[in-house]
Formats: sequence, C-alpha cells, structure tokens
Amino acid sequence: MGTKGREMVGNKVDEVIDLLNRALADEWLAYYQYWIGSKIVVGPMKGEVMTELMEHAADELRHAELLVTRIIQLGGKPILDPDDWKKLTNCGYDAPEDPFVRKILDQNIKGEQCAISTYRKMMEMTKEIDPITYEIALEIMRDEVEHEDDLQGLVEDLENMKFLR
Ligand SMILES: [Fe+2]
Ligand SMILES: [Fe+2]
Repeated sequence: MGTKGREMVGNKVDEVIDLLNRALADEWLAYYQYWIGSKIVVGPMKGEVMTELMEHAADELRHAELLVTRIIQLGGKPILDPDDWKKLTNCGYDAPEDPFVRKILDQNIKGEQCAISTYRKMMEMTKEIDPITYEIALEIMRDEVEHEDDLQGLVEDLENMKFLR
C-alpha cells in the first residue's frame, strides 16, 4: 500500500475499495461465463462466436488484474474467497443452461450492458477524488462498450443468415 497514494483519495477510500471489489466479483463471473460459454456453444457461426467469447474472457481476466492491483495500492483487501463473488456482484451470473448461440449471445450482451453501467457509476464516484481509479474504470469501460458492440454485431450476422436462402 502506498500511504500517500491512499491518503490522496481521502475519506471515501473504503467506498472506492468496495466498488473495486464488487467490480472484481463481476469480472471473475464474466470471465467464467464467457469461458464456459465458449466451450459449450452450439449453432450457426459457432466457430466465430467461440473465438469472440474466448477473446472476451481474456479481457475480463485482464480487467480483474487491473482492479486487484488498484485495491492493493489503496490498502484494501481483495476478495479472497470465490463465495464472495456471488455476494458482491453487481451483474450476477447467468448460467448458460441453453447452449444455443443466440441465447448465449443475449446473456452476454445483458452482462456487458450491466458492466457498462457499473463502470459509469465508478467513474462518476471517483471523478473528483481518485483520478487513477477513474482512469482504470474508463479503460475497462472502453472494452465493455466494444464487447457489447462485438456481440450485437454477431447477433446481426446471425439474423442476416436468414436471408441467405
Ligand atoms: Fe470486464
Ligand atoms: Fe466485457
């Protein structure tokens, strides 16, 4: 922990750490949702969807890395027990019970939209008090916006396949 770095954030530092930990829970759940989704997905454009899901999984893990580094810098305790993922998550976990490609894409789009709101809130909360966390939230949000767009693009391609015949 950097003492001056923590001090800089002021009396809301524990609140910031709490937001970071909640987002950390989201990222791990998102990582697993993408990763397991990429293994089980079936249906048209399966290969392309699988590749996209794997890429997103890697991004979510990278986001977890960014968050945990910031939590430690601020002297916080990162989530140590996976049981806490479901307790702290903002966006929940949508088990891909139905492996059909469209269903998996829709579930992940919902997750991305929730992630965008979460980072938006983190940015609002940290804007004035913690420029470093603000920048991390912005960097992650950029990816989440891209993820949503990628997934919606795949849904569009799937829809367009109907017109091939
Ligand atoms: Fe993420
Ligand atoms: Fe994402």
